[in-house]
Amino acid sequence: MVPRRVAKQGEACGIRFEPEETIFLMFSSSCRDEAHFQNPDAYDLTRDTGPAIPFGAGPHFCAGAAASRCLVARHAVPAALAALPNLRLDGTPIFKGWAFRGPTQLPVAWDI
Ligand code: HEM
Repeated sequence: MVPRRVAKQGEACGIRFEPEETIFLMFSSSCRDEAHFQNPDAYDLTRDTGPAIPFGAGPHFCAGAAASRCLVARHAVPAALAALPNLRLDGTPIFKGWAFRGPTQLPVAWDI
């Protein structure tokens, strides 16, 4: 969810916006949007994620996107997988929040 101040009159999804109004845009499904991704709920490492917007889009695109991608994909995840052999889900994750949405419980198990 992102808040925006409306600069000029417009309309989206059948809702009209007037200048100076504050609106909250919900795009929690954006990266699984069936209008943009085939089979959006399937985990597919080969998918073209070009249209995905986890770091926003346009002039407010996340300034930390490159650093975050590098830290998570090249360091945090490989370090966790190396330290915890055969790390796997061990239950149902619970997702909460809307402005900052993510797993608040992520039960896992691994071999010692
Ligand atoms: C996985 C981690 C991160 C995610 C998912 C993320 C996501 C986002 C999103 C969706 C936006 C756009 C918000 C909007 O349109 O109003 C944004 C903006 C921004 N992010 Fe991140 N972010 C992450 C990490 C970081 C880090 C590490 C930094 C700084 C080192 C950072 C700095 C910023 C800044 C400065 C903006 C505002 C850019 C602007 O308004 O021009 N982010 N981020």
